[in-house]
Amino acid sequence: MSDTLNLESLTLRLRRFPETQQSELIAWDAADELLMLNALPQVNGQLLIINDHFGALGCAAARLNPIWVNDSFVAHQALKQNLDLNGQPQPDRCLADLEPFEEQIDQVWIKLPRNLRYLEYLLDWLNGHLPQGTTVVIAARLKEMPTTLKGVTEHYLDDIQPSRIRKKARLLSGKTSGRRARSPLVLNWQAQGTDFQLENHPNTFAGQKLDVAAHLMLNQIPTGHRRIVDLGCGNGILALAAAKANPDAHILAVDESWHGVTSCQANLARALPQAQFQVLWNDCLTDLDPESADLVLCNPPFHQQQAITDHIAWQMFRDAKRTLATGGRLRVIGNRHLGYHIKLKRLFGKVETVAANAKFVILDAIK
Ligand SMILES: C[S@@+](CC[C@H](N)C(=O)[O-])C[C@H]1O[C@@H](n2cnc3c(N)ncnc32)[C@H](O)[C@@H]1O
Repeated sequence: MSDTLNLESLTLRLRRFPETQQSELIAWDAADELLMLNALPQVNGQLLIINDHFGALGCAAARLNPIWVNDSFVAHQALKQNLDLNGQPQPDRCLADLEPFEEQIDQVWIKLPRNLRYLEYLLDWLNGHLPQGTTVVIAARLKEMPTTLKGVTEHYLDDIQPSRIRKKARLLSGKTSGRRARSPLVLNWQAQGTDFQLENHPNTFAGQKLDVAAHLMLNQIPTGHRRIVDLGCGNGILALAAAKANPDAHILAVDESWHGVTSCQANLARALPQAQFQVLWNDCLTDLDPESADLVLCNPPFHQQQAITDHIAWQMFRDAKRTLATGGRLRVIGNRHLGYHIKLKRLFGKVETVAANAKFVILDAIK
């Protein structure tokens, strides 16, 4: 698949990050193209770009020095890679989350997130911080627009105008209204069957209730370990369980979602002394010292943005192997059909089944 986007007078080279063997996956989509064609010529001042998956929009608008906000650590790396590929400068502000801006924002572009509660959070924030009447353009492919989107956008935005459909994508342009969220967007709940109280910022994985796989994993936390990593920690539910089962262990929790690490930080800080844990915003275990852990717990993701893919799980398993000391254990949960045992066997040589039910399997790989 080509990595070159040609759109009227715009030509960009764009690659996904990390690169994947799935050749049908490219680094931009028809919704990005619509923003470049319809919205970019209308920008007359400071542009704010939110949730630009692989930096295509950041590259297209680079000469405008946009403020670029993305919850995903990996997306920040993708932006940097693609700006370099096109000889473009890095925007002055690449942020993990919205924060008050001194200058007036002319236009906001939001690439529709998969998680509508995160969209609500973004729109609520914009309504609370930008003057009423600021233009907000939401872009997505039609198949990614749920029926509930209409209610959300109508609550937060005025004068909503849908664009014409092009290549099965559409823009929804509206104006900030000042209307705020009707209920709290940071959710607090107790994880089912545990005494863990969890704070969940809006873009945190399983932020509304415990993930089924995480729930199963809670009964299978090994003991007797001193250096434990929760890889892809989300709200930190596995890290909390690991700390409880291994009271003398140091816990390192890692996620690429800023809202994930924000939630995890709050949840671990409530349960543990600061010296006993660290929470990192990172791409898997990049730059971690080799042989620095003796247990890695992992409930891997099986999609990146909208695409179903196993390359992040692969990267997590490889990074776990590098980070584990000899004799260290990687404990993974996954859907049976994902075939993680084959991958782990290839990497570690030997894999053991710890527990299984009709849908999930928990596996151990020892280095
Ligand atoms: C299936 S969820 C598990 C979350 C939590 N551990 C649980 O069991 O509920 C996978 C997590 O991996 C994170 N993730 C995805 N890609 C990642 C990457 N490249 N590096 C670190 N974390 C990543 C996601 O943000 C998500 O929180």
